[in-house]
Amino acid sequence: MSLGARAIVSAAPGIYGSAMATYRFSVNGVPRAIEAPAEMPLLWVLRDRLALTGTKYGCGGGHCGACTVHLDGRPARSCQVRVSAAEGKAVRTIEDLDDHPLQRAWVAHDVPQCGYCQAGQIMSAAALVAATPRPSDAELDAALRGNLCRCGTYNRIRAAVREVAPPPAPPEAPGE
Ligand code: FES
Ligand code: FES
Repeated sequence: MSLGARAIVSAAPGIYGSAMATYRFSVNGVPRAIEAPAEMPLLWVLRDRLALTGTKYGCGGGHCGACTVHLDGRPARSCQVRVSAAEGKAVRTIEDLDDHPLQRAWVAHDVPQCGYCQAGQIMSAAALVAATPRPSDAELDAALRGNLCRCGTYNRIRAAVREVAPPPAPPEAPGE
């Protein structure tokens, strides 16, 4: 979908087919009641209804991770989450991670290049760090695999995440 087509879809919720309904969920700790067709992607609600434009539109197909948010603490592609699926849940966006240690590590490692993918990268990394404070390399790879960066900042992303989330402690030697 082109950006122009995206704008039309976003501005014309009637084309989704289902009737408007009200969906209640929290966004960054604030209770929200959003009137929308059930099929409207959460991404458009965040960006167009709530002006939370830190969450980016990349592929629109669930492939790039630019639109990653947290849904009840787990990373989710907001372009693929219908607003109806957010009912009763807690949505967290990059705007709520302003003072997060990962943000400081991102700055320290000068991670972004164009920056477009970075909100999604940080959201995926934040979910990992919250669930697994000392992830293995395999866990780190798995958590970030779905976030693409056309600028190739992967090494700096990894260094920044490792500053906040070191590898697991080595097992103690027998007898120690
Ligand atoms: S915009 Fe949602 S995964 Fe690419
Ligand atoms: S910094 Fe440009 S796409 Fe990742």
